[in-house]
Amino acid sequence: MTIEKMMEFLNQPNVHIGDPDHVKHVIEQLIQYGPDKLQIVADFDRTLTKYIHKGHVCATCHYVLEEGSLPELFKEKARTLRDTYFPIETNPILSVEEKIPKMIEWWTKAHGLLETCEISRDSIQHCVSSSTAKLRDGCSWFFDELKKYEVPVLIFSAGIGDIIEEVIKQQSTMHDNMHIVSNYMKFNEEGKMTGFQNAIIHVYNKNENAIHDSAYFQNIEHKTSMILMGDSIGDLHMADGAEVDHKLKIGFLNTRVEESLELFKKKYDIVLVEDETLDVPNNLLRSIL
Ligand code: TMP
Repeated sequence: MTIEKMMEFLNQPNVHIGDPDHVKHVIEQLIQYGPDKLQIVADFDRTLTKYIHKGHVCATCHYVLEEGSLPELFKEKARTLRDTYFPIETNPILSVEEKIPKMIEWWTKAHGLLETCEISRDSIQHCVSSSTAKLRDGCSWFFDELKKYEVPVLIFSAGIGDIIEEVIKQQSTMHDNMHIVSNYMKFNEEGKMTGFQNAIIHVYNKNENAIHDSAYFQNIEHKTSMILMGDSIGDLHMADGAEVDHKLKIGFLNTRVEESLELFKKKYDIVLVEDETLDVPNNLLRSIL
């Protein structure tokens, strides 16, 4: 696809671009430098997965466990936490600084609850297969094509790494060019979950974790073009450990559209509103690869 065709394709009602000249320029650079220079950094929940499928809100990683066979009391408490904290996460009026302590509270309480449930490693496969978590339409093509050209893909998520791997395994393919940074569960010898392996990754501390994981970016520092994909303002910091020459930021705005659109348009180069597909990133790849 030529740059002209790509810009024409982006001229759709659900695609919002604050600065079309800048977007055109960055896409031209990405096309010019091609797949050898490209790397991808993507959030998982509601970025690689859908927000809505057939009129129903889809599960995040944490919600996959809630949908599973965990005790009713746990589900009720987890739901109360989500009803309290999700509106804070997505509130465009609050600053990131105001949100951070609330997110730490949410993840700490949610992980504390999970630790009381004696989740078995073996149950994860079934939890995922019976869940409403769904990769976006076109996600398998996206992963397969990036593998074909050996483009490194970093999936950086405040969700749960074990669940992410299982979703990808069941609904697509986990290729060896894909690397996940997320909250990974810890299991004892009986295969029961006892906690999490590392410090919490929540939606607004992806910058700190990028620094911890900077060896990843150092190893691919010759990949000087980047497509970054996220669904929250916190996701913009997923690549803070990387120095690249050309970066295109694609934001999925799934909820509270009217009140958040201006902020997203300021922060992301391309904003996709209520789009449950990967059509835009995939068409971009068709131009670049
Ligand atoms: P992400 O970084 O992959 O987008 O994942 C984080 C999402 O997980 C975020 O939108 C909030 C959500 N979440 C739940 O649905 N339930 C929970 O208990 C927690 C802690 C987070």
